[in-house]
Amino acid sequence: MGDCTVLLVEDEEYIRENLSEILGMNGYKVTTAPNGESGIEAAKKSPFDIVLTDLKLPGISGIDVIRSVKSTAPNTACIILTGYASVETAVEAMRVGAFTYLKKPFGKDELLVTLEKAQEVHSLKEENSKLKNEIKRSYTTAILGTSPAIQDLRNNIDKIADTDSTVLILGESGTGKELVARALHYGSTRSNKPFVPINCGAIPEDLLESELFGYEKGAFTGAIATKIGRFEAAHNGTVFLDEIGDMSPALQVKILRVLQEKEFDRVGGRASIKVDVRVVAATNQDLEKAVEEKKFRGDLFYRLNVIPVHLPPLRQRREDIPLLLDHFIEKISKRKKKGIKGVAPDALRVFEGYDWPGNIRELENLVERLIVLKEEDSLITIKDIPDKIRQHRAEAPSAGLQLPADGIDFNIAVDNFERDLIINALNRVNGIKKKAAEYLNLNRTTLIEKMKRKGLLDQLDIIDSPETSEMAGS
Ligand SMILES: Nc1ncnc2c1ncn2[C@@H]1O[C@H](COP(=O)(O)OP(=O)(O)OP(=O)(O)O)[C@@H](O)[C@H]1O
Ligand SMILES: [Mg+2]
Repeated sequence: MGDCTVLLVEDEEYIRENLSEILGMNGYKVTTAPNGESGIEAAKKSPFDIVLTDLKLPGISGIDVIRSVKSTAPNTACIILTGYASVETAVEAMRVGAFTYLKKPFGKDELLVTLEKAQEVHSLKEENSKLKNEIKRSYTTAILGTSPAIQDLRNNIDKIADTDSTVLILGESGTGKELVARALHYGSTRSNKPFVPINCGAIPEDLLESELFGYEKGAFTGAIATKIGRFEAAHNGTVFLDEIGDMSPALQVKILRVLQEKEFDRVGGRASIKVDVRVVAATNQDLEKAVEEKKFRGDLFYRLNVIPVHLPPLRQRREDIPLLLDHFIEKISKRKKKGIKGVAPDALRVFEGYDWPGNIRELENLVERLIVLKEEDSLITIKDIPDKIRQHRAEAPSAGLQLPADGIDFNIAVDNFERDLIINALNRVNGIKKKAAEYLNLNRTTLIEKMKRKGLLDQLDIIDSPETSEMAGS
């Protein structure tokens, strides 16, 4: 208790000194102020755990003191002292944030019990704030990656989180759109209000409207009671409209109205409802194209696209793969209570070379599968990797490329690489150009063109010879 700080605002000197003495004797660190102005001044200098203030003061009132204290230190527990304890003043004091009041005259015991409660209220509030801050931090730092694209993304989130602007998150499936939406919410001053996600693509069209906007009792068969929708539930917070590209034209109009007028009607409702929500939307579709094709409203697109955030696919930031891999191994091992040693270098190279069409979610799911299937404490090797992913490596041998320390000429390297690829492919199929072209997924004429340019046609005459018969036959 020794560290509990109390600000006592009381104009009557006798009461002030008497109370101050009692508090001091009971271990509170007391600061006194004879009027509201000096009380506010003191609270601005350093926040107090508890504020005890008289209601009637010569200048500004105790209510104003509480209002001011709460605006700078919302966790301070405020108690109002009053000789005129009417229901109205009590209500008013609570409204501005006092947690209780003491009616004068009060006894020492009553005062000390109330202070103990105040202390408890204050420490609960502090703890709550601390937890919320941790959550907030965990959301922005949860976006892992050292690639320039992800570093930019984290910087941008810091910049735009605390604006009220609408954000449109664009990216392939599994690239982290929902993660970014949460980071935007928890990084904003709305963070202690709700984050309400809704997947517009997963809910049937006729249900989506009542999910979003709620309905009145009797609006349709089965509406036995009024229900609030997600927009109302998110008041002062953030609504995350996931898969917005799947939304029907009729609902698109209604969303546009919420964005423009900040109001909507419940299904079957007569009066419009006002809300203060920030909208973050996401899609893996090309919305601009959808606008051109008249599948998505242009006005809604522009209203949503105030701040676009593009999430790059994993194959465009392969350098992040090892970090993500370690992260998921640690996270999933903990959840499954099963440790594994890690990933062998050759397996890691396969992971880095694969294109990950399902992006980070695909990587995460694969790690989960491997952990479940592997023996405790074993190493993930190339043999554990599903064929689909392993085979991919044969198509992309460049993934494991060793680069010389002193630099390399890009054009010559690419040229040499193409040359090696062609020679190796021809060797594999006994020099039959048609088959080599199929193997390389190239047009036969493109292959021959490339061979000509590289001077390979004459040089490879011997390998080429079986083709003479093949060509004659085709
Ligand atoms: N940069 C990242 N760092 C760490 N984890 C990530 C990152 N990006 C995504 N994840 C994780 O990958 C998974 C998929 O992310 P999320 O659900 O946000 O993707 P999405 O784009 O919304 O996918 P979908 O289109 O399939 O809904 C989640 O478990 C998420 O925590
Ligand atoms: Mg998602």
